[in-house]
Amino acid sequence: MPTIYVTRRIPELGLSMLREKGFTLDISEKDGVLTKEELLGALRAKPYDGVLSLLTDTINGEVFDAVPTAKIFANYAVGFNNINLPDAKERGIMITNTPGTLTNTVAEHTMALILAAVTRTVEGDRLTRAGKYKGWGPMMLLGMDLAGKTLGILGAGRIGSRLAYHAKKGFDMDIIYYDVKQNLDFERETGARFCATTEEVLRDADVVSVHVPLLDSTKHLINAARLKMMKPTAYLVNTSRGPVIDEVALIEALRAKTIAGAAIDVYENEPVLTLGLTELENVIITPHIASASVPTRDGMAKLAADNLIAFFAGETPPNVVPM
Ligand code: GLV
Ligand code: GLV
Repeated sequence: MPTIYVTRRIPELGLSMLREKGFTLDISEKDGVLTKEELLGALRAKPYDGVLSLLTDTINGEVFDAVPTAKIFANYAVGFNNINLPDAKERGIMITNTPGTLTNTVAEHTMALILAAVTRTVEGDRLTRAGKYKGWGPMMLLGMDLAGKTLGILGAGRIGSRLAYHAKKGFDMDIIYYDVKQNLDFERETGARFCATTEEVLRDADVVSVHVPLLDSTKHLINAARLKMMKPTAYLVNTSRGPVIDEVALIEALRAKTIAGAAIDVYENEPVLTLGLTELENVIITPHIASASVPTRDGMAKLAADNLIAFFAGETPPNVVPM
């Protein structure tokens, strides 16, 4: 039966599914991300048949070559920008991911960030804890309403579409979007208006939410020039991948107040934050937890296990990353 290396402990559901099918699991005991040397060392220890990797592991040719027996890397994430796909393809290694199960959870977290930003909830909490609340004030911490405002979605895939649904049905927002493909089902469901360019979304939206995968073409999609196109009253939200936004440019825009605020769950150099970010009042920063609900993390563990089980049964796993 297959022996799998697991680069960090994930919810028990997925691990027990694999054990029940007779898999042997070697799980990293480190409560943290393995360094490159630790990962290479662990993989060289045994002729593993497969690897269960995390979005925090950098997986490239050097890693694949450390364990040439492993023909599948099951990534515990929907994103797979941590994996070098050409290197995998060249070696005939299959990559799988865990989409779907986290869609609503990430969309809900994104909605929470939007609400927290426009209602200034986190600022208010900080002020209250600091003992600065001296009584109700007519001009204190005034924010923005969402009803009737425009939500601009960049990337109307599963998560972007689900967020638009919440924003439209729950908060009566108007939806505009840009995506490489126009999505007619999405338009029918949410009344969304397709914009021909990213720039049009940035100019017209009151809240911009980013839901693109990290690719060469989406790195710094939001840069200084594009931030300048946003309304001074607008908010920027990112629960996709950090490098999609030029973080230095974002800090500049927030400092100069050329946009009203931002709420981000992902960073350019996680877990390192760009200098100056934590000093700004008009940004909410959460620690890459948008998919972190108990059922969703169980669901991701189950999907990663399903992918491995199918692969070793000689079937096509449900979530093969196309290469
Ligand atoms: C989370 O960021 C994921 O890609 O699953
Ligand atoms: C990811 O799940 C997406 O398609 O938005």
